[in-house]
Amino acid sequence: MSQASHFDEIIDRTQSHSDKWSKYPEDVIPMWIADMDFEAPQCVKDALQERVQDGVFGYTFAPKSLVSAIQAHCQERYQWQPHSAHIVHLPGLVCALHLCVRALTEKGDRVIVPSPVYYHLTKAPEMADRELDRISFVLKGNRWSVDLDTLAQACQQPDAKMILLCNPHNPGATVYTRQELEAIHALAEQHDLIVVSDEIHCDLILNDQPHIPFASLNDDAAQRSVTLMAPSKTFNIAGLGYAFAVISNAKLRQRFNQARAALIPAPNLLALVAAEAAYSDGQTWHAQLLDYLTGNRDYIRHAIAGTRIKMADHDATYLAWLDVSDYSLEDPHKFFLEAGVGISDGEGFGAPGFIRLNFGCSRQQLQNAMHRILTALDSLS
Ligand SMILES: Cc1ncc(COP(=O)(O)O)c(C=O)c1O
Repeated sequence: MSQASHFDEIIDRTQSHSDKWSKYPEDVIPMWIADMDFEAPQCVKDALQERVQDGVFGYTFAPKSLVSAIQAHCQERYQWQPHSAHIVHLPGLVCALHLCVRALTEKGDRVIVPSPVYYHLTKAPEMADRELDRISFVLKGNRWSVDLDTLAQACQQPDAKMILLCNPHNPGATVYTRQELEAIHALAEQHDLIVVSDEIHCDLILNDQPHIPFASLNDDAAQRSVTLMAPSKTFNIAGLGYAFAVISNAKLRQRFNQARAALIPAPNLLALVAAEAAYSDGQTWHAQLLDYLTGNRDYIRHAIAGTRIKMADHDATYLAWLDVSDYSLEDPHKFFLEAGVGISDGEGFGAPGFIRLNFGCSRQQLQNAMHRILTALDSLS
């Protein structure tokens, strides 16, 4: 019998204008958008309360103490310390993805994106009239990973200018190895490509693999890349809106900042406070979270054993990537909705026949959702 955890607590989010909990009727269990049904760490709540008590909410810049907390976090977890002058504070990561494409490539340029992937990585080039080149993730053994031969072919195209990476990969839950990153870097260097690496899920690794920031590989990788990170997924503070970019190359940073000026606001002051508290004092909570999520991932694996649902190695994120294609469902989203579970359809990421299930919730809620899913599938046979 496992010990009770504070993550077991069921929190009613239905009255809090939550995107996740407002999309579907009340009897549906929402397991879609990537936020978790957990309270943020106590250190974050305390820091916010203290700042709110202050009562004055004027224009605010990111303090040095936040930069130091980010540097300490990166040093501790990835043995990488971004220079303070290279860190750009942002109100979110999605706007940074779009901005990178618009500021660092030209109309008609080819942007290479390993996919299926979180849809803003493909939307960013599409919405900016760039050529989107999707490189298929393939199953190697039981692990989703980028097909390096196809990537090499794409990089050879004369109009190729940028690779957009998602590491750890969402959906698919792959953590890139050093070998893979070095191979990608070698191609980027050979063909003079910029690499934008969305690393928002990097603190949600559920095994003992390290996260390796692309920019930490070597000097050339640092000079040709933009690293995007945030505390939002890890500490469940997405609604506050904070992310940061690390751009070591002064020219790229200048282009990014020029494109951003007057359009993308600074992060709001509560977001800055929450980010600093999370990075400075959230370690214990974070370690407990990873344990709990690992238990949830293992629960799913156990629950689907003996069914025709397939799940490859799941190394990171709280987003299970389930292959339900064996059931030939005409419309998986509708099917599971009718069963009482709101999932993300794989089609939205470029992979029909798959579903993405958010297991950042209490074990009880996950068990209920899995029960509904499996009962509905059972009724088909
Ligand atoms: C890979 C990835 N990037 C970015 C985001 C969203 O970032 P933000 O909320 O900071 O805009 C998500 C959210 O699910 C994500 O999975």
